This record gives sequence, C-alpha cells and structure tokens, in this order.
Amino acid sequence: MVFFKTLSFYALLPLVTLVAAVPNGTPSSSAPESVTSIPASTLTQITDFGTNPNDVGMYVYRPATVADNPPLVVALHYCTGTAQAYYEGSTFAQLSETYGYIVLFPSSPHEGTCWDVSSNETLTHDGGSDSLGIVSAVRYAIDNWGVDSLRVYALGTSSGAMMTSVLAGAYPDVFSAGIVDSGVAYGCFALPDEPEDSWNSECAEGELILTGEEWAERVYSAYPDYSGARPKMQVWHGTADTTIYPQNFYEEIKQWTTVFGYSETPISNVSESYLPSGYSNSTYGANFQAILAQGVGHTVPLYEQQYLEFLGIA
Ligand SMILES: *[C@@H]1O[C@H](CO)[C@@H](O)[C@H](O)[C@H]1NC(C)=O
Ligand SMILES: *[C@@H]1O[C@H](CO)[C@@H](O)[C@H](O)[C@H]1NC(C)=O
Ligand SMILES: *[C@@H]1O[C@H](CO)[C@@H](O)[C@H](O)[C@H]1NC(C)=O
Repeated sequence: MVFFKTLSFYALLPLVTLVAAVPNGTPSSSAPESVTSIPASTLTQITDFGTNPNDVGMYVYRPATVADNPPLVVALHYCTGTAQAYYEGSTFAQLSETYGYIVLFPSSPHEGTCWDVSSNETLTHDGGSDSLGIVSAVRYAIDNWGVDSLRVYALGTSSGAMMTSVLAGAYPDVFSAGIVDSGVAYGCFALPDEPEDSWNSECAEGELILTGEEWAERVYSAYPDYSGARPKMQVWHGTADTTIYPQNFYEEIKQWTTVFGYSETPISNVSESYLPSGYSNSTYGANFQAILAQGVGHTVPLYEQQYLEFLGIA
C-alpha cells in the first residue's frame, strides 16, 4: 500500500484518524489505492510507490473533483527548489481544480536539489537514478489512481526542464508531451563517467554543438528497442540567459526537429498577443514549438494556462 503524509491538516492527526477519514473504508493490501484515498486539495507526500533508487521525494496534488481517467502532470522544480516551492510558485495545483488532472511534484534528493540529468543510469530507459524514481510514481498513478496512460505529461523549469527532456528521451512510452522552460536538449548534460547529478559546464554554456542527427541519436540510444510515438515538445528560452546559455535553445530545435522529421526552418514564427512583445513562437509541426523570449534571463516565467492548452488539457 501507499503511505500518505500531508503537509498541513492531516499531518497533525494520528494515523488512525486519517484512515477513518478515507472514503470507501480500509484499503486491503492487495487492492489498488483509489484516487479518493488521496486527501483532496492539499499537497500530500507519497512513499512506497515502486522502484526509487535515489529516494526521490514525491508529492501529489489531487483536486476536489478529479476527471474520469484523469491526465497526470509531473511538475519538476529547479535547482535549490523543492516540490513545495514549485507547488507554491506555480498555478498547476489551482488549475487542476478547474480541469480535474492530478499533479505530481517530485523533490530532488541531491544536495543543492538539482536533478540527476547527467548519469548513464538516469539517461537510460529503466536504467535507474532519479528518472526511474519519477517514472515509478507515474506507473503507480496509472495502476492505482485511474490515470489515463496516454495523457501523462512532464514539464519543468531549469534543472526540472532538463529532467523533462530526460524523461521525454528515455521514457517516450510513458510521456505524451513535455514542456521545457530554460533547459537543454536530451543528453546534453551527459557525463557518464562522473558521479550522478554532475554539472556539465560545456552544455550549460552552450558549447556543446551537435548536428540534429547526433542529437537524435542520443535520444534513440536512451531506449534502442523503442519504435513508437515520441512525446510532443514545447521549449521556452530567454536570449539573456547566462546560466543555461541560449545556444541550448537552438540545440533543442535541432534535436526535436530531427526526431520528428521536421525542417529546421519553422512553418511560422510569430508573436502571440498574450505574451510580452519580444517573445516569438516558432512552430515546426504539430509536435514541436520553440518560444524565444527576447531579453529574458534565467528563467522564462511560467505560462501555465498556455501549457495546459498545449497538453490538450485546457
Ligand atoms: C548505460 O546503462 C545501460 C543500462 O544500465 C548499460 O546497458 C550501458 O552499458 C551503459 N552505458 C555506458 C556507456 O555506461
Ligand atoms: C523568430 O523571429 C524572431 C524575430 O521576430 C527571431 O529573433 C527569432 O530568432 C526567430 N526564431 C527562430 C527560432 O528562428
Ligand atoms: C504557437 O503557434 C502555434 C501555431 O499557431 C499555436 O498552435 C501554439 O498555440 C502557439 N504556441 C504558443 C506557446 O503560443
């Protein structure tokens, strides 16, 4: 069974009270947890959700009214962040009350709370590390909470954006879309001979320049046996980013246009009325958009409502 630790009201109650408050009685050890066993409208920690080599922290937010076969959004924080901070600093939880999806907020187990986006384990399908811990929670949500396995999405900021690329590359069978805010191409941080969660300055500073074919090859090598659909991707980057240099935006474009077989020349590149002037939205095909934010540093502010539209939720 899964164990819940809520951060607010429920944390003050003895366990027996919490169990008594759960609808549908006491769960049996073999029956799946029902989504209604998750306390509504509060950030709640879950444990024992499956293989989790690095002990990634995992928190769930389920709205008061959950959609039938709900979509799942995995929202990934930046370095120095936490699940709690990303929950508080975004509107993904509030918007789930409108749209009925469930949110997972993973929390990095590493000092400095970056994600491991550099080790071979994390970059390999079912290879281990942080990415497998996150995917285990997704698999748990599908098996136990009625989540629609075809509507599982990852998104994140900075290190969380890099992890989104990792999940999109290594687990294309799990995720249907990814949104990368101020991140890098899949595999750009790879340092297979260094400890997990190493910082790759060459990539961060935009000095790792590969061809589209080379970038696509990194994606394919994450899961060589896979030949199914790839998650659709939306990437955002600021031109004044001095942490994750803007060259990474163009490397992402090379990678995903090659994976999708699109031209590197956008079909359209336009400003959008809801975005500040200086933002341009380049569309390469149904599965890939790249938004460049002129003069914006690290990181591009979140546009949650638009993300949900891209994901087909809103
Ligand atoms: C990466 O990990 C996979 C799966 O554990 C393993 O098969 C492969 O040999 C590793 N590659 C490198 C370069 O270490
Ligand atoms: C889109 O157009 C803007 C100018 O409006 C330009 O700065 C930007 O580089 C273009 N985006 C891409 C991906 O080519
Ligand atoms: C970018 O343009 C495409 C095509 O018009 C549109 O479908 C999409 O919603 C736009 N993306 C953003 C982030 O505004």
